[in-house]
Amino acid sequence: MTIEDAIAARRSIRKFKPDPIPEEAVETLLESVRLAPSGSNSQPWRLKLIQDQATKDRISEAANRQGFIAKAPLVIVLCVDLGVYIEGSLATVRELASNNERSEAMTSAMLSRVEAWRTQPKDFLAANVAFNIGIAGEHLALMAVGLGLGTCWVRAFDEARLHSIFGFDEEIVVTALMPVGYPDEAPSARRRKPTNEILL
Ligand SMILES: Cc1cc2nc3c(=O)[nH]c(=O)nc-3n(C[C@H](O)[C@H](O)[C@H](O)COP(=O)(O)O)c2cc1C
Repeated sequence: MTIEDAIAARRSIRKFKPDPIPEEAVETLLESVRLAPSGSNSQPWRLKLIQDQATKDRISEAANRQGFIAKAPLVIVLCVDLGVYIEGSLATVRELASNNERSEAMTSAMLSRVEAWRTQPKDFLAANVAFNIGIAGEHLALMAVGLGLGTCWVRAFDEARLHSIFGFDEEIVVTALMPVGYPDEAPSARRRKPTNEILL
């Protein structure tokens, strides 16, 4: 399957077969996240894989009772670690500077920018870091298509409830849920704006 085919074929899937996902396929999905680009190569994503029914039920409850989440054989909880984001970004900026791969002006601008993150409110940082998990998550969603799997981005949830379900520390932000499974529906393509409407 080409990338073009995967992009065209991807749909949000909200009905899954109960069939389990082979371990090899799960590893391929994780590899697609691992290879994603990130700001300053900080790789701030942290994933939790949930397969047990009781936890999936609690996740679904915390996501406004979106029942299809609990029926997916696998739910991937896509998180970012804000500490990793800051420290990873600083390390890469310094590494690039020591290899003379970036101008002094760029290094100094990046160091001040990343250092300033330490005192920024969590919401600001969470929004800033969200780009990274967005890209990594879409790698996963497209890779899933190639494996015959379906996914659905889920953002409508109570983050505080998910935090308490998993006992995450303060540095972790739950950014999205991604139920994964073999599709038990074949939705038509959802409406998209024509190209002329998305050009400024
Ligand atoms: C950031 C984001 C958040 C979303 N949150 C939800 C959600 O909470 N529940 C849901 O059923 N679908 C959710 N969706 C799926 C969208 O409704 C879906 O992508 C859109 O309607 C287009 O349909 P398609 O993905 O099949 O092309 C979300 C999608 C994105 C990208």
